[in-house]
Amino acid sequence: MRYCLIRHEKCWLHISAEAPPPPQNRPNTEQVATSIAQHTDGTLYRIERKKPYPEDFKDCASEAKKELNDSIFPALKDVIPDFDKYDVVFVGGPVWWHTVPMPILSFLKKSGYDFSGKIVVPFCSYANMFPHETLLEIVNATPNSLHHNGFISEEGDTTGIAQWLDDINLKLK
Ligand SMILES: Cc1cc2nc3c(=O)[nH]c(=O)nc-3n(C[C@H](O)[C@H](O)[C@H](O)COP(=O)(O)O)c2cc1C
Repeated sequence: MRYCLIRHEKCWLHISAEAPPPPQNRPNTEQVATSIAQHTDGTLYRIERKKPYPEDFKDCASEAKKELNDSIFPALKDVIPDFDKYDVVFVGGPVWWHTVPMPILSFLKKSGYDFSGKIVVPFCSYANMFPHETLLEIVNATPNSLHHNGFISEEGDTTGIAQWLDDINLKLK
């Protein structure tokens, strides 16, 4: 089995391609995705909006809210090569306005990837509200997939990931 991990990029944190920041400075969801990848031998992909979100937090938050309220599915930057070869897809992001950021729904519903028959495993990182609703949104957006219980991380805490993967029989390492 091959694994594919998907996460949504936090828009206002710069990750340098030359010198990656130490783990504790990485966006929360990336820390979770990286830990899952380590335990599953997975390939990491980043879901990133084609047009970057504003750097300023408030501007970014209001643009994200408008996208959500108006059901705008933003175009994404990259295409995942050989998507069909993956059997298990972990899909995750931060909780934004009580649910997933719209780029994740662009990826799941509008990008032409065929999720039917694949195992989709949701995960998210959150501050204090609506993580379960967020996982459910990922499940609802992939109605022809099989699903496993997801993982909820408070602010990027990776404690419990190994045990969770063991519980759902997806831990390789
Ligand atoms: C626009 C916006 C909306 C958010 N809405 C929620 C929310 O509804 N519930 C919650 O628990 N956290 C919310 N948060 C906090 C993030 O989900 C949380 O900090 C997350 O761990 C950030 O992950 P990241 O570092 O990968 O971006 C929100 C953050 C932003 C920027």
